[in-house]
Amino acid sequence: MVANQNITLFILSVGLSIAGFTAGDDDQFVYTGFASSNLTLDGGATVTPSGLLELTNGTVRQKGHGFHPSSVLFYESSSGAVQSFSVSFVFAILSTYPETESGHGLAFFIAPDKNLSGSFPTQYLGLFSDQTNGDPNSHIFAVELDTVQNYDLQDINSYHVGINVNSLRSIRSHDAGYYDDKSGLFKDLSLDSHEAMQVWVNYNRETTQINVTIAPLNVAKPVRPLLSANYNLSAVITNPAYIGFSSSTGSVSGQHYLLGWSFGINSPAPPIDITKLPEMPRLGQKARSKALQITLPITILALFLAASITIFLFVRRKLRYAELREDWEVEYGPHRFSYKDLFDATRGFREANLLGTGGFGMVYKGILRGSRLNIAVKRVSHDSKQGIKEFITEIVSIGHLQHRNLVPLLGYSRRKGELLLVYDYMPNGSLDKYLYGKEGKPTLDWNQRFQIIKGVASGLLYLHEECEKVIIHCDIKASNVLIDNEIHGRIGDFGLAKLYDHGTDPEATHVVGTIGYLAPEVARTGRATPLTDVFAFGIFILEVTCGQRPIKQSTQDRQVMLVDWVLEHWHKGSLTDTVDIKIQGEYDIDEACLALKLGLLCSHPFTSARPNMRQVMQYLNKEMPIPELTPNLSFSMLALMQNDELIMHCPSEIGFGTISTISGVRR
Ligand SMILES: *[C@@H]1O[C@H](CO)[C@@H](O)[C@H](O)[C@H]1NC(C)=O
Ligand SMILES: *[C@@H]1O[C@H](CO)[C@@H](O)[C@H](O)[C@H]1NC(C)=O
Ligand SMILES: *[C@@H]1O[C@H](CO)[C@@H](O)[C@H](O)[C@H]1NC(C)=O
Ligand SMILES: *[C@@H]1O[C@H](CO)[C@@H](O)[C@H](O)[C@H]1NC(C)=O
Ligand SMILES: *[C@@H]1O[C@H](CO)[C@@H](O)[C@H](O)[C@H]1NC(C)=O
Repeated sequence: MVANQNITLFILSVGLSIAGFTAGDDDQFVYTGFASSNLTLDGGATVTPSGLLELTNGTVRQKGHGFHPSSVLFYESSSGAVQSFSVSFVFAILSTYPETESGHGLAFFIAPDKNLSGSFPTQYLGLFSDQTNGDPNSHIFAVELDTVQNYDLQDINSYHVGINVNSLRSIRSHDAGYYDDKSGLFKDLSLDSHEAMQVWVNYNRETTQINVTIAPLNVAKPVRPLLSANYNLSAVITNPAYIGFSSSTGSVSGQHYLLGWSFGINSPAPPIDITKLPEMPRLGQKARSKALQITLPITILALFLAASITIFLFVRRKLRYAELREDWEVEYGPHRFSYKDLFDATRGFREANLLGTGGFGMVYKGILRGSRLNIAVKRVSHDSKQGIKEFITEIVSIGHLQHRNLVPLLGYSRRKGELLLVYDYMPNGSLDKYLYGKEGKPTLDWNQRFQIIKGVASGLLYLHEECEKVIIHCDIKASNVLIDNEIHGRIGDFGLAKLYDHGTDPEATHVVGTIGYLAPEVARTGRATPLTDVFAFGIFILEVTCGQRPIKQSTQDRQVMLVDWVLEHWHKGSLTDTVDIKIQGEYDIDEACLALKLGLLCSHPFTSARPNMRQVMQYLNKEMPIPELTPNLSFSMLALMQNDELIMHCPSEIGFGTISTISGVRR
């Protein structure tokens, strides 16, 4: 039945349409595609190369119109009534985004002129404005195929067909669909299903009946119209009038296409040859490309941003936690800390965590995340590539061997140009704070002081003689001695001097150490030996015993070396006057004199005169008597340190000859 009808339609149309548009006069025409048509277009309307009338092109809030070029005379000259007419057309609506709305619909209209520039898009379908909607002077008759439900206009649902007179508030409307000829059942149609559909509009002059019928393209015109209304269009349609199609989009876009159109006054609209209709754009193709035009740049931008952020975070993390790790370090694995752990432990090396700034770098307090262990992290900057391996070997070997007078070294970490040493945290801080009464620390009594001196001597002996390699500390001083819970002295910062010792070029010798503790030969040769540590240790003993800094401020604003001052008192026979007054005389005189004399001996300007640490220990433990210093000893340490030549040329005058014989240098 359907097939037969289509064949009949086909045979009929062959005769009627040869080249798209066939029109004998303006009482009747048929467009089979619009390629060769002369439609009057405005807004977004175009005729595509394939011959589709595209009323909107996918832009939001757009309207478009396509008019039959010439006017239509709806009235017979003699009578004042609109004649019967018949319209049929094939349309399709594509939503830009599959599964979303297609914007507003499409309408066939009859209007008094071709000027619809005052109309609004969106729900006004490009036919009316909020002013003209409902105005009887509009003289617009329309059949709307709406895809959006608008409550203001009392739309019954989103897909509906309506008969409109001077208003988008339809005089009659119905869900889009058709009554099946065979079963008589109503079948819904999705107007923006991308499928082409055909619509028929018939008006009967006598009955003033308007019938609207819609059906899928492959279905012949159903017998039962979808909509039927009685309205005398003579009150609406002007003479002449213009006929065409209007469409609009709102905040969502869609494309509205017309594939074919036929019209007849006082005659049925010629059938449209559906086999000759232009091809619809492939399903979703244009829609997708439109969608891509919008979403693709956004997606690319979003991906780019996401990638950039990821890379930024990754690089920042890499840079922040970057560390150096080489093959040879594998064996030191257990001593190796990750930089990130140290970074986290010290809360990013915050200023609040800074414990102090030492000769080699800053020291930060930290808490290891896993073990909750308190640590002190020393950041040492270095630029020597060669020395680092020896240094770490040494550091780790020190770490292996625990000594009660060394601050326990837990391990290390390193990154470019920076070495991080991880020590046990010593909550009591450094000795100088006790000696000079900083931070309200109680002063130490004699026994504690002597114990600290012996402890430091023991630690230094260990570094010099008892561990695998000779380790020269290079910076023995009160501020490098830390006090543990039992008020024992523990040497910190050991081994660091080595870092500067290895691999650096001889021209750029680093003189490490602290003024006041520097042995004279260091200034001359730039080389440190265990005996330079002994020198500094001598100064350290005096510092602890006298409670004075190595360079003391004298009354006349002059700087006096502590050694000289002690020597002076020794000469005068008033050695005990130099003992720290803060002890308030409560000390063992023999021990104090031993300490003072040992301090002088150790800080002897001649290396050969100094004892080694083993001997120092023996003196301190009173296992061996300390060699007597010659009483007529007279020299200025300061002068000596400033003028080495003097000592070199006339050592006999200085009267240290006896001392040099007692101190054999360990080699
Ligand atoms: C759609 O039509 C408008 C005119 O209404 C035009 O400015 C715009 O460039 C067109 N867009 C496309 C994608 O063709
Ligand atoms: C197209 O229509 C315009 C007026 O709308 C007219 O001037 C022109 O001659 C027509 N062209 C053709 C080829 O019919
Ligand atoms: C429709 O209106 C016109 C003009 O008022 C009138 O001449 C005509 O008779 C009317 N038609 C019917 C069927 O009433
Ligand atoms: C079209 O109509 C608008 C008002 O709706 C008017 O301003 C404009 O002048 C008209 N254009 C023409 C060409 O008549
Ligand atoms: C409208 O449809 C009904 C039912 O099919 C029919 O009887 C009537 O003639 C139609 N009117 C027009 C104007 O086509």
